[in-house]
Amino acid sequence: MRILAIETSCDETASAVVENGTKILSNVVSSSLALHAKTGGIIPENAAREQIKYIIPVIKEAIENCKLEIENLDALAVTVGPGLIGSLLIGVETAKALAFAWNKPLIPVNHLIGHIYANFLTANDQRPKTIIEFPALVLIVSGGHTDLVLMKDHGKLKWLGGTRDDAAGELFDKVGRLLNLPYPGGPSISAEADKFRIKNSESRITLPRPMINSQDFDFSFSGLKTAVLREVNKLKEEKQFNDPAIHQLSYEVQKAVVEVLISKTIRAAEKYRVKSILLSGGVSANDELRNQCEQMTKDKRLKAKFFAPVKNLCTDNAAMIASAAFFNYKPVAWQKITANPELHF
Ligand code: KG4
Ligand code: ZN
Repeated sequence: MRILAIETSCDETASAVVENGTKILSNVVSSSLALHAKTGGIIPENAAREQIKYIIPVIKEAIENCKLEIENLDALAVTVGPGLIGSLLIGVETAKALAFAWNKPLIPVNHLIGHIYANFLTANDQRPKTIIEFPALVLIVSGGHTDLVLMKDHGKLKWLGGTRDDAAGELFDKVGRLLNLPYPGGPSISAEADKFRIKNSESRITLPRPMINSQDFDFSFSGLKTAVLREVNKLKEEKQFNDPAIHQLSYEVQKAVVEVLISKTIRAAEKYRVKSILLSGGVSANDELRNQCEQMTKDKRLKAKFFAPVKNLCTDNAAMIASAAFFNYKPVAWQKITANPELHF
């Protein structure tokens, strides 16, 4: 089965064709990130205007790249939420129009569930994936969400906990701004942190590890942002807010976030005796998080295999939406599909 998917929940306009939920036949992503970097973050109206510009060319390219005729596509899928309403509407209404015009089934997909399925995708040039066995524990870490989910099977998800305030990616983006780093903060902080490590210096800054010892599976990251702000203000007063200080703060904030995320993930993996641990969402592109999570899975002698999507599939794309639609194949009449910016699991 070949599914053409559309994803427009935030600042990426994306379309992809995926065969049987795993094989990517085409994957086109047009990002308006450079535009948002100029304003230091996403202005929803700007994001929606960019979606309008690119939606048709991106879908056209996704179909042309896989060299298929429209009659060879079996179904359409679209992200219906959560996300920015203006951005979501462009993808949802386009998908509905195409489903009607081409007379194809249309599957509405939750963006967060889409992120999970980035783990099930195999690009053409890759070896087949090791099978993901259930139950699996999924850590979803993106710009808007931080959630721990138990996946007993396709379509059988149990939400274990999530952030009570800022998401991990949101924290990185906000701290990036405090440190005058380019948007988005996640990759910038990771690059700055590497510069600190290269020098192998001793770190004199200690940041908190919010909720690391709480027995639930919730997170809280806004206190960490306040702690960084305090350090920045102190450094500015002492006229020490310079490049080495930024490297060090980046290193410390990344270390704190990764430690909290991994600690709760491993605890949940032990409690639910999972067979697989899956990272997903934009922050799962972070090398420190990927490496440490893999290492901890081995060190704790968990009987679980570790999975993380290839890096270009960690951030928003439509291939993951097509995969989620295949494994949870529930078409809905296009008249009944609406965008829902607040959609939960
Ligand atoms: O999943 P995503 O593309 O969009 C949402 O659904 O939110 O995630 C974007 C988030 C941003 O907050 C960005 O700073 C973060 O992912 N991110 C990273 C890295 N690459 C992207 N965070 C840490 N390290 C990275 N390498
Ligand atoms: Zn996302």
